[in-house]
Amino acid sequence: MKIAVLPGDGIGPEVTAEAVKVLESLGLDGVELTYADVGAAAWRSAGQPLPPATLETARAADAVLFGAVGDPECDTLERHLRPEQAILGLRKELDLFANLRPAKVFQGLENLSPLRSDIAGAMDLLIVRELTGDVYFGAKGQRMNDKGEREGWDAMNYSAPEVRRIAHVAFRAAAASGKPLTSVDKANVLETSQLWRDVVIEVAADYPQVALDHMYVDNAAMQLVSHPDRFGVMVTGNLFGDILSDLASACVGSIGLLPSASLGERQTAHGTFGLYEPIHGSAPDIAGKGLANPMATILSAAMMLRHSFSLEAEAGRIEAAVAAALADGVRGGDLGGSHGTAAIGEAVRARL
Ligand code: NAD
Ligand code: IPM
Ligand code: MN
Repeated sequence: MKIAVLPGDGIGPEVTAEAVKVLESLGLDGVELTYADVGAAAWRSAGQPLPPATLETARAADAVLFGAVGDPECDTLERHLRPEQAILGLRKELDLFANLRPAKVFQGLENLSPLRSDIAGAMDLLIVRELTGDVYFGAKGQRMNDKGEREGWDAMNYSAPEVRRIAHVAFRAAAASGKPLTSVDKANVLETSQLWRDVVIEVAADYPQVALDHMYVDNAAMQLVSHPDRFGVMVTGNLFGDILSDLASACVGSIGLLPSASLGERQTAHGTFGLYEPIHGSAPDIAGKGLANPMATILSAAMMLRHSFSLEAEAGRIEAAVAAALADGVRGGDLGGSHGTAAIGEAVRARL
């Protein structure tokens, strides 16, 4: 079982180290870890955020465990040299178009949420975010307009096949869990969204058992915090999914709790090839201080065992250990507590 570990920048290496220790403490046979630089770390060591050798390490593995990329020092570099291009490049090059971001309030821990606890308790949704298209990957640039003013532009587009394949992922997830599916778009304004909605409606014909509704993204943001119980599975484009998943993480209690799986169609001998990362970034404000909550990355490792290695029981053990640590009062600074990165990792391992 080959795992490429790409710790990246800021708190990336700190949280990844704890997730690796959790994996190691399961004592699985035949696990092989290969490390590579990515993001600002790779720009410093190899002159580019996603060196070919790092991409090859990822490609040659059965799964990728990814920390985070991003460094304020790099925010003024030419765009192709910026750390964020590494994660965008990995997603695109490896065709990881389906990003699963589960957001569930831990049972008994409704008080971690900034939402009223009776509302928070009902949040248990899966955000299915399209990850290789949309305004993220369209043409973009800056130019002078007719009036001689500087102007920035980004083209938003989706092709019907791109929407179709992510819709199938979402419908299958909804069908498997018996939950309703909400497709989130902005079809009242955007042509890209009209196409999205048309294609989702076409695909729905294959899944008569799934209850489908459509919601505009502004309303979805509002409903997410006022009536989270209305959502089971949510499918949306790359940009809306980015924003709504950070919002959902706050409702769960902290961005330090939300894992993700990025999947494509490639199968390995063990399961589906995928990249696993917390939804948060490199958190430069707390990097290097041992303060980051590693739970999101640990939970991402659990998703890796489930999807890429078909080890459902082991994935469940990790998730139960995280839930137990939280139930026992283990809290990082992000949750108003005083446990550091290493103490949280240790607390989770002790409960495996
Ligand atoms: P961020 O997610 O890094 O941080 C937002 C806030 O949440 C910060 O206050 C941070 O301290 C806190 N936070 C995040 N993760 C935490 C954790 N595990 N434990 C405790 N607190 C945590 O978002 P940002 O500040 O907007 O971005 C910082 C950098 O990260 C930027 O360069 C951005 O581009 C990059 N980024 C990368 C990824 C990725 O690698 N997938 C994701 C998001 C942002
Ligand atoms: C995320 C991040 C990335 C995104 C950035 C760093 C490119 O915010 O994984 O959510 O926007 O997808
Ligand atoms: Mn994001």
